[in-house]
Amino acid sequence: MKVLVTGGLGYIGSHTVVELYNNGDEVIIIDNLSNSKEEVLDKLETIVGKKIKFYKGDLCDKELVRNIFKENKIDSVIHFAGFKCVPESVQLPLKYYRNNLDTTITLLEVMDEFNVRKIVFSSSATVYGTPEILPLTENCVVGGTTNPYGTTKYFIERIMEDLYISNNNWDITLLRYFNPVGAHKSGLIGENPNGIPNNLMPYVFKVASGELECLNITGNDYDTVDGTGVRDYIHVVDLAYGHVLALKNNKHDEVKIYNLGTGKGTSVLEIVNMFEKVNNITINKRFAPRRIGDIATCYADTKKAKEELGFETKYTLEDMCRDGYNYVLKNK
Ligand code: NAD
Ligand code: UFG
Repeated sequence: MKVLVTGGLGYIGSHTVVELYNNGDEVIIIDNLSNSKEEVLDKLETIVGKKIKFYKGDLCDKELVRNIFKENKIDSVIHFAGFKCVPESVQLPLKYYRNNLDTTITLLEVMDEFNVRKIVFSSSATVYGTPEILPLTENCVVGGTTNPYGTTKYFIERIMEDLYISNNNWDITLLRYFNPVGAHKSGLIGENPNGIPNNLMPYVFKVASGELECLNITGNDYDTVDGTGVRDYIHVVDLAYGHVLALKNNKHDEVKIYNLGTGKGTSVLEIVNMFEKVNNITINKRFAPRRIGDIATCYADTKKAKEELGFETKYTLEDMCRDGYNYVLKNK
């Protein structure tokens, strides 16, 4: 299958490109490098041992997207391109609504023009807002989002559902990711954001490597096993493979929605302890106030993805802590 991967040089996109090649698919990437570097393309080519066709440009540029579809016989699309920083979205909501919605609508219009109607979209567990039950099933209420980033994901899900209602020939899969961490074994690709990271594990990696002084554990008075926040951490390689399975799933009598997580909740202290043990490092840490808008606990019900996609995670929390830091050390 020839797959267009939007945002394919980013963290999850790049790992998905590798899994697609492992599956025998061919990939075309569009990325404007707003949150990635062109050198990721060389690294990907090293891992997969092939040249990969790359378009450097903005997915909101309709003429460019049309050209990509004219020049390539694309069978399906995996749509990662978008902005993802929660606090930035609170400060700059229009930037998030513009980019995340515009990329998606432009892409869908051009796909429709070229009769390519198979798409997998990167949604997020954030669409569930504060969980009404745990584990979270795909039937839980969505839309109670607490920040503009999350609301863009919710809006895009709705847009895609409306599109399917208008034309049942669309084959749409919404993947709701839980918390991706870790990196490819090679240490060539991974996640190492510039500046001060918002997410837990990139912050831990920077404290471990001496770039940041101390981890703030944001909240130790939640109703959880040890008072710290509980999340469902999933190795990015497992998550990436979920996209390969989603593309193979040919059922399209509805918009397909799957949680991609492990089904297991881990607290901040538990994952930090695991990181320390696996990498034999002590993390300088202190307790700090809760972050505004944070929830206590979030983990996935994985039954539907297992039954309908055959999705099962292979990698452990240990792998996530080791592989993620291996990437950071190799790319310091
Ligand atoms: P990322 O920022 O590493 O990757 C996104 C890529 O899209 C980047 O390479 C960026 O340069 C590109 N991009 C952004 N706007 C673009 C545009 N207008 N045109 C072309 N390229 C553009 O993020 P990621 O962690 O790989 O996330 C991928 C997707 O998964 C995003 O949609 C994100 O919202 C979603 N998601 C991520 C997480 C997470 O924790 N990482 C969780 C849930 C959902
Ligand atoms: N945390 C800390 N210190 C930090 C950063 C985070 O203790 O410096 C804690 C948080 O309070 C939370 C846990 O670590 O309990 C995980 O926080 P992350 O920021 O890593 O992840 P979130 O669950 O808050 O959010 C992430 C993405 C969202 C996505 C969501 C989906 O940032 O975009 O997962 O599950 F929507």
